[in-house]
Amino acid sequence: MPITLITGANKGIGFETARQLLALGHVVYIGARDVERGEKAAAALGARFVRLDVTDDASVSNALATIDSAEGRLDVLVNNAGILGHGVTDGPTALRAFDTNAVGIVRVTEAALPLLRKSSNPTVVTVSSSAGSFWAVTNPDRPEFDLPLALYSASKAAATMLTVQYAKSQPGIKFNAVEPGTTATDLTAAFGVGRTPEESARVVVRLATLDADGPTGTFQDENGEVPW
Ligand SMILES: NC(=O)c1ccc[n+]([C@@H]2O[C@H](COP(=O)([O-])OP(=O)(O)OC[C@H]3O[C@@H](n4cnc5c(N)ncnc54)[C@H](OP(=O)(O)O)[C@@H]3O)[C@@H](O)[C@H]2O)c1
Repeated sequence: MPITLITGANKGIGFETARQLLALGHVVYIGARDVERGEKAAAALGARFVRLDVTDDASVSNALATIDSAEGRLDVLVNNAGILGHGVTDGPTALRAFDTNAVGIVRVTEAALPLLRKSSNPTVVTVSSSAGSFWAVTNPDRPEFDLPLALYSASKAAATMLTVQYAKSQPGIKFNAVEPGTTATDLTAAFGVGRTPEESARVVVRLATLDADGPTGTFQDENGEVPW
């Protein structure tokens, strides 16, 4: 059974990804920054819980140490935790957006690498966004063109680039970024848009369940590769 860690999995797309991977037989660790929310989500799904705040180095290393002691390896990492970082555009807000959406990926991935290297089919999926695609935000025909989310877009562009760089530096591990599709979650509640998390989680699950010879270093949505 694959051992899987999903960050920010107490709700939204992460929670639904956990539900679908559990149904496929994965042992799923719900990473959540809040103990009560994380334990509640894990209990609802029959998953395990690790406290994990992607902005806190100690909590990340403790979470991976817990998985190491219990399982001795990690097969699938889903970097899903994310925030919008909207409202004002200033230094503190930018630091928060980048800390969660980009630096968080570095923290969790670095802590997970030794465990991923013990897997026979290690896979990392980063839930990025087409809002971080240069192609999409400069294309007037795309909805991302009009999104007033500079910090979110820039931090997601960084998330996608980190995925590509990890794919190059870690050839034995698959690293792919995903645009899950516009989804009605707390993240998008202010915009009142999006489909169900269940539908978008399917896109994440496809990349989390690749065969050993599957692609690496790609950025995909449900229709295939997304231009950078
Ligand atoms: N919804 C969309 O249309 C859409 C489109 C493209 C990409 N995405 C991406 O999909 C991912 C999931 O978003 P969502 O739409 O499901 O939003 P969501 O319902 O707001 O879920 C976000 C999750 O991230 C967690 N999180 C935030 N900061 C964290 C931190 N420092 N440490 C650990 N967990 C943290 C949240 O935990 P708390 O409950 O503790 O806040 C929550 O579990 C994000 O990366 C988002 O950027 C979403």
